[in-house]
Amino acid sequence: MKQPIAVYPGSFDPPTNGHLDIITRASLIFSKVIVAVTDNSNKNPSFDIKTRYKMLADAAKNIPGVEVEIFSGLLVDYVGGKKASVIIRGLRVVSDFEYEFQMALMNRRLNKKIETVFLMPDESYTYLSSSIVKQVSRLGGNTKGLVPKSVEKYLKEKTL
Ligand code: COA
Repeated sequence: MKQPIAVYPGSFDPPTNGHLDIITRASLIFSKVIVAVTDNSNKNPSFDIKTRYKMLADAAKNIPGVEVEIFSGLLVDYVGGKKASVIIRGLRVVSDFEYEFQMALMNRRLNKKIETVFLMPDESYTYLSSSIVKQVSRLGGNTKGLVPKSVEKYLKEKTL
C-alpha cells in the first residue's frame, strides 16, 4: 500500500523539542511530512509567521522527507490541496484530549477522507509547551534542551 502524505499543523510559537520529536516520529511512518505553520486565531503570536517558519525549517533540515510551509485558511482545504490524507497532532497529556478530539471531529466533518493521527512525544517532553518555554526565557531561565539550538538564539534575542 502507498504510504500517505501527512500534514503536521500548528502555530509553533516557538517550535520546541517536543514538536521536533513528533516530526521525527512522523517522518518514519509517512512518505512525506509537511509541517504547516499557521496563525491560530485564538492566540496572539510572539514570533511572526516568517520567523516561525525559519526556526522550523532550520530545526528540521536534517530530517528526511520533511518540508516546512506556511498556510492560512481552513486546514482541511490545505491538506486536500497538498494531496495529503493525514493530519498529525501530538498528544502529551490527558488535558490535550478534549481540544484535540473536538478539532479532529470537526475536521472529519469538513472532509471525511482526511484522518487525524495522534502521536505521543517522548515522555521527557510531555510537560513542554511553547508558552511555558517563553515564560522561562522571559524570566531569564535556561531553555537548553527544551528547544532546538536555533530557537534558543531567537528566544535570547527577543524581549517576550
Ligand atoms: N511538544 C511540545 N508542545 C506541544 C506539542 C509537543 N509535541 N504538541 C503541542 N504542543 C503545544 C504547543 O506548543 C502549544 O502550546 P501553547 O498553547 O503554549 O502555545 C499547544 O500545545 C497547542 O499548539 P499547537 O500545536 O501549535 O496548535 P494550535 O492549537 O496553536 O493550532 C491549529 C491548532 C493551527 C492546528 C488549528 O487552529 C487549525 O487547524 N487552524 C486552521 C484553521 C482551521 O481549519 N480551523 C478549524 C479547525 S477544526
